[in-house]
Amino acid sequence: MIRRMTPIRPPDPLDKATAERILSIRRWNDKLFSVRVTRGASFRFTPGQWVRLGIASGSGLPGAVVWRPYSMASAVHDDHLEFFSILVPGGAFSTRLAKTDIGDTLYVEKEPYGFLTTARFAGGRHLWLLASGTGVAPFLSILRDPETWRRYDERVLAYSVRAAGDLAYRDELAALGTDELLGAGPPPLRFVAVVTREPAAGALAARLPELIANGELERAAGLRLAPDDSRILVCGNPAMLDDVRDALVARGLRYDRSANPGQFATENYW
Ligand SMILES: Cc1cc2nc3c(=O)[nH]c(=O)nc-3n(C[C@H](O)[C@H](O)[C@H](O)COP(=O)(O)OP(=O)(O)OC[C@H]3O[C@@H](n4cnc5c(N)ncnc54)[C@H](O)[C@@H]3O)c2cc1C
Ligand SMILES: NC(=O)c1ccc[n+]([C@@H]2O[C@H](COP(=O)([O-])OP(=O)(O)OC[C@H]3O[C@@H](n4cnc5c(N)ncnc54)[C@H](OP(=O)(O)O)[C@@H]3O)[C@@H](O)[C@H]2O)c1
Repeated sequence: MIRRMTPIRPPDPLDKATAERILSIRRWNDKLFSVRVTRGASFRFTPGQWVRLGIASGSGLPGAVVWRPYSMASAVHDDHLEFFSILVPGGAFSTRLAKTDIGDTLYVEKEPYGFLTTARFAGGRHLWLLASGTGVAPFLSILRDPETWRRYDERVLAYSVRAAGDLAYRDELAALGTDELLGAGPPPLRFVAVVTREPAAGALAARLPELIANGELERAAGLRLAPDDSRILVCGNPAMLDDVRDALVARGLRYDRSANPGQFATENYW
């Protein structure tokens, strides 16, 4: 008997993603850059979520694409999508992304994921967003959302980087809250810059867990961390998340779980 073999079809990225076009690239320094791409008409997300991006591997194999998760940095109402990226030396995805040009294709999966969103929290008046490095990306989307400005009385962003030149989006962050889309009246963002590997004017100099433990973060923000008022999202370096979690627990705050609501949640970037 002759068995017919079903031909194996190479994976088609368009089964699960849309092919988007790069509209612009902004280079912050030699290791940080932002990419704007077209947005599929049916793509919806909640601020704080992430999506898998795909880029042709260039291996010559049909359908070969390298995929990595990226947080949306753009607002839900923007007609483009924006991503803020590190360039990891030798990294399979980021080195390819860094070499792209305007007009090139980036695959964007159709389904966004993630629970680093304010929607998960009940209550709270003060939203604290604690980021290391590119972990600021989901917070840009959250802060660009009018709902964030309506729902909370105060917003704090603490953004920890190694060098002052790694503090991206400073102008956009300074302008937040003055955008008429966000509505007039809310107090401006309480922005706390943290630069850990060189002296930097206007920035705190120690790591976030230490700044939480010694009260310096609260002094710089001008607000107290307290279970009734504070809701906290933390994103970036996994070691930072562990240490911040310990520091928050030591302050009487609890991780937010559906079965046991609390005040903070984290998202690990690697
Ligand atoms: C849920 C989620 C959301 C993410 N969102 C973003 C985002 O918005 N922007 C972004 O730049 N990255 C983001 N990442 C990381 C991203 O998916 C890739 O890891 C990163 O682009 C590097 O890919 P790579 O293939 O070049 O290196 P990889 O092989 O993926 O990583 C190699 C090493 O590089 C380091 N590394 C990876 N990502 C980072 C980073 N972002 N900052 C500092 N060091 C890093 C780690 O040490 C890692 O082990 C996210 C990851 C997750 C899980
Ligand atoms: N940034 C650079 O100049 C540089 C140079 C060469 C290579 N890289 C590559 O880039 C990646 C790092 O990128 P990055 O600088 O964006 O991210 P990062 O190393 O996570 O540093 C970002 C911020 O997080 C802080 N941090 C790290 N661990 C912490 C912890 N346990 N608790 C609290 N804070 C913590 C850092 O403080 P500390 O400064 O105290 O660690 C820094 O302020 C690495 O993969 C590295 O190989 C970066």
